[in-house]
Amino acid sequence: MSVGKALPHDSGPLHVSGQARYVDDIPAPAGALHLAFGLSHVARGRITKMDLDAVRAAPGVVMVLTAADLPRPVDVAPGAHDEPLLSDKAVHFIGQPLFLVVAESHLEARKAARLGRVEIAEEPPILTIEQALEADSRFEDGPRVWTKGDASGAIMGAPHRLQGRIEMGGQEHFYLEGQAALASPQEDGGMHVASSTQHPTEIQHKVADALGLPMAAVRVETRRLGGGFGGKESQGNALAVSCAIAAHLTGRSCRMRYDRDDDMIVTGKRHDFRIDWEVGFDGEGRIEGLDVTQYARCGWSQDLSLAVADRAMLHADNAYLLPSARITSHRLKTNMQSATAFRGFGGPQGVLGIEAALDRIARHLGLDPVEVRRRNYYAPMTEGEQGHPHLEVAPGETWQEAPEDSDLASRGSGEDLPREPVAPATRNATPYGMEVTDFVLHGMTDRLLETSDYAARRAEITEWNAGSPVLKRGIAFSPVKFGISFTLTHLNQAGALVHVYQDGSIHLNHGGTEMGQGLFRKVSQVAAEVFGVDPARVRITATDTQKVPNTSATAASSGSDLNGMAAKAACEAIRGRMAEALASLHQCEARAVRFAEDHVEVGGDRISFARAAQIAYEARVSLSATGFYKVPDLSWDRIKGQGRPFFYFAHGAAVTEVAIDTLTGENRILRCDILHDAGRSLNPALDIGQIEGGYVQGAGWLTTEELVWDERGALKTHAPSTYKIPACSDRPRDFRVALWDQPNPAASIYRSKAVGEPPFMLGISAFLALSDACAACGPAEPALDAPATPERVLAAVRRARG
Ligand code: MTE
Ligand code: MOS
Repeated sequence: MSVGKALPHDSGPLHVSGQARYVDDIPAPAGALHLAFGLSHVARGRITKMDLDAVRAAPGVVMVLTAADLPRPVDVAPGAHDEPLLSDKAVHFIGQPLFLVVAESHLEARKAARLGRVEIAEEPPILTIEQALEADSRFEDGPRVWTKGDASGAIMGAPHRLQGRIEMGGQEHFYLEGQAALASPQEDGGMHVASSTQHPTEIQHKVADALGLPMAAVRVETRRLGGGFGGKESQGNALAVSCAIAAHLTGRSCRMRYDRDDDMIVTGKRHDFRIDWEVGFDGEGRIEGLDVTQYARCGWSQDLSLAVADRAMLHADNAYLLPSARITSHRLKTNMQSATAFRGFGGPQGVLGIEAALDRIARHLGLDPVEVRRRNYYAPMTEGEQGHPHLEVAPGETWQEAPEDSDLASRGSGEDLPREPVAPATRNATPYGMEVTDFVLHGMTDRLLETSDYAARRAEITEWNAGSPVLKRGIAFSPVKFGISFTLTHLNQAGALVHVYQDGSIHLNHGGTEMGQGLFRKVSQVAAEVFGVDPARVRITATDTQKVPNTSATAASSGSDLNGMAAKAACEAIRGRMAEALASLHQCEARAVRFAEDHVEVGGDRISFARAAQIAYEARVSLSATGFYKVPDLSWDRIKGQGRPFFYFAHGAAVTEVAIDTLTGENRILRCDILHDAGRSLNPALDIGQIEGGYVQGAGWLTTEELVWDERGALKTHAPSTYKIPACSDRPRDFRVALWDQPNPAASIYRSKAVGEPPFMLGISAFLALSDACAACGPAEPALDAPATPERVLAAVRRARG
């Protein structure tokens, strides 16, 4: 058994010993050149003069390029063609690349880039949500609106009504390895690119476009990223394309990396949001109607903003059945870095909106906030609520795949599956019309409240607070239900390429990228599982557009779901051929050939896997196969906001306890208990790592991480000195993470669930706990905004005191 094992990250020893090779560690080919951008110092305007003489004359400079010097117009946007690589005279934000310096060394390129004298006729920048609304500065004609029923009517008719507003900041990705690329010209005009990207195919596409080459002439390789978190879905395009152009023009290898400050000034971040909400509810806290308006600051170019804002809308319900809802989304264009993908992809912003509203309802009615949440949950999947006993598999058989035609394989829609639909169609529907059929938070909540000892601790904290005038403690519970699939349906596909060599070693390749999340390890476990071999037999190799074409970004948490399935298909094809060959030699049935424990059992014989490979090779059997997978069962109309955008939902729940100092606003997370639904975990060690990391990153977003732009639109927090990510010491003192170990009712890879993003939203419980602590200071509503920095905590304490 290799699937389900808590194996360490395949590169763990390399990571910690400094031997893991990142893009900038790849030894430079002789004569390699280095690149740097000259950046705009103005947020909005038009270039009237560019004097680059001093740049050209600077030591080591080989070439300086402006947009006019490029052989063809070059765009680096992921879709909308609204991002010229270098400014075409229009200037949109402070940090926008205006010209490109090619020099003999990294330092020379950077120093020279500072010498440019660029005159820009300034225009007043559009920076705030208010300014953007006033100027009607948007990426779509007007707001997008999705509705379910008559929300206004329901709110008006409800016994209670509340309205509120929450503002939440953006977030810098702060991957430890910054953006980097290396391009090397090949014979015949071809280009090889190494890029720290989550999306090698897009790099390939953009480089091919920029050079006027077919995609087949461009090869992109990515062995690993030192973190991506969504910040390397599109933001690496500019570097890779610059390197390719410079390499093409000079005939020399070119490499580029942003230093940390430039990385923060140039690249996009999480979208900050303002959410206005109005809710009507009954005396027990049950929502009757919700009207939410989301304002997303998208920055200067469209990038992935429409899809991010869509996902925020898709998660405006979080875990709660809304009898009626209106969800409005404004995608505002502002003169700042172009906001981009970031773990959760708009989901966290959407979820925080309704969680803030539910807390207000609970405080308004004087009810326990967990109880209010539970009353609003979607209906559970089965009567039992404890997962799916009928889906349990006998021990030892845990990882046997379901036969193609079984209920397991067909998403539980089979006749004899004892699974009753809990409610007639549309009774358990999301605001976008998708029936929720796999909701497990009832059972998870029960268990988490018990294991975290929630009720007793809440009582104890209330008592403690009564006797503590300066320090206050708070506790909060928050759940997450996160939709798994790309909402752009065609992206839900993946490919793999597997070779078995005649010595029995296995070469594994697939379209996913490794950014620390452990994807390569998980997929290698899948391959080892299919062949019944030790995972050490499986050689993990760099993502490579020459091996697997037309891949999607490793994103939307779908890496192991998609690539695991594709790899499984490839391995099964080879295993099937090996079985046939061995069976015919042994004159038995191929079905009776068993692959297990690094051996193959055939016709009463037991031979090593290596021997089996040798025999198959000698029998002239192809030991190489591609695999392909597409997610079944999706249909989605993003304009109407109707359909079935997700293959399934992943769930999680957290209880966080915090303490605040009401004199300084300082705060700490004291304890966090998490129960997370990773389905039947492919690798519990990696999954728990993702849950811990996701939670801490989510809590960081809502507590210490604050982006500050000045009135000219300059990002002031562009280094770790001013931008505070959680340190090791900021993690919960007492951190207890458990897996809700139930198989995914959807036929996902070995019944596991995607785990990369959903736990990020559990960090919301830390924010709600801070809000709870502030509320303990007085009778009024603290109305805490995010990030809950000490300043904001102090202000909320003051508001609570009334
Ligand atoms: N974990 C680490 N260590 N580093 C990362 O960059 N990115 C996150 C998440 N976990 C990330 C991470 C994001 S934004 C996503 S979408 C998923 O991993 C992508 O990988 P997966 O699809 O294989 O889960
Ligand atoms: Mo993750 S934001 O989908 O890269």
